[in-house]
Amino acid sequence: MRTIIINGSPKGNSKNSNSRIVCEEFVRQMKSPCEIKCIANSDPEELALDVEEYDTVIFVLPLYIHAMPGIMMNLIQHLKPSTVHGKALGFIIQAGFIETEQEKYVERYFASLAKQLNYDYLGTVSKGEAAALYMFPNMFKKVLRRFNDLGRIYEQTHAFDQKITRELGKPYKLTKSQTLIFQFFCDIGLNNLGWHKVLKKNNAFDKRLERPFL
Ligand SMILES: Cc1cc2nc3c(=O)[nH]c(=O)nc-3n(C[C@H](O)[C@H](O)[C@H](O)COP(=O)(O)O)c2cc1C
Repeated sequence: MRTIIINGSPKGNSKNSNSRIVCEEFVRQMKSPCEIKCIANSDPEELALDVEEYDTVIFVLPLYIHAMPGIMMNLIQHLKPSTVHGKALGFIIQAGFIETEQEKYVERYFASLAKQLNYDYLGTVSKGEAAALYMFPNMFKKVLRRFNDLGRIYEQTHAFDQKITRELGKPYKLTKSQTLIFQFFCDIGLNNLGWHKVLKKNNAFDKRLERPFL
């Protein structure tokens, strides 16, 4: 079974792409690591043809505005339905927000996409709260180990391990008390510290409340 991993982030192979990190961790403990390709800077037509050479395609992507990045949608529009049975399509989403419930819409789409393209659906693995992965990898050791295990087990079983998928997907939805704690952090401005740092670095802090489309 030949598998290709497709990195769907517009940041491609750059150092600060969390999708790149997840791709690399997924193949790290494989005996024969799968090939990884980036959509960014690729010709979607050529990449769609390359993909046909493989039995399984696993997309690793971030969520941008609750959806897949545009470059990934573009590639998908170039994919042709498989003419043979038994090929498989899988997805690994890593995103900034804590709750993985927001992924449910795109997951539903991925399941029906696989069907439309005559691929078996391997499933979608979702990990929230991952925006700082490239900044503080040491804080994410446990998460990275889970991706190592997910990849190692995938190589042996050709499936996403259900237990690891469940662990990575937590929390699906914050409990009431977690929401209250989070609200408190928002009220005192803690949630904005990192974001404001980025705005200041880009001389955009003073413009943060502007509403240009009004
Ligand atoms: C323009 C933009 C939109 C984003 N929208 C969402 C979103 O809707 N939900 C979410 O959970 N994270 C969102 N994020 C956070 C990214 O999913 C997160 O930072 C991810 O780790 C980026 O992966 P990458 O570095 O591989 O591109 C957004 C980030 C950017 C830059």
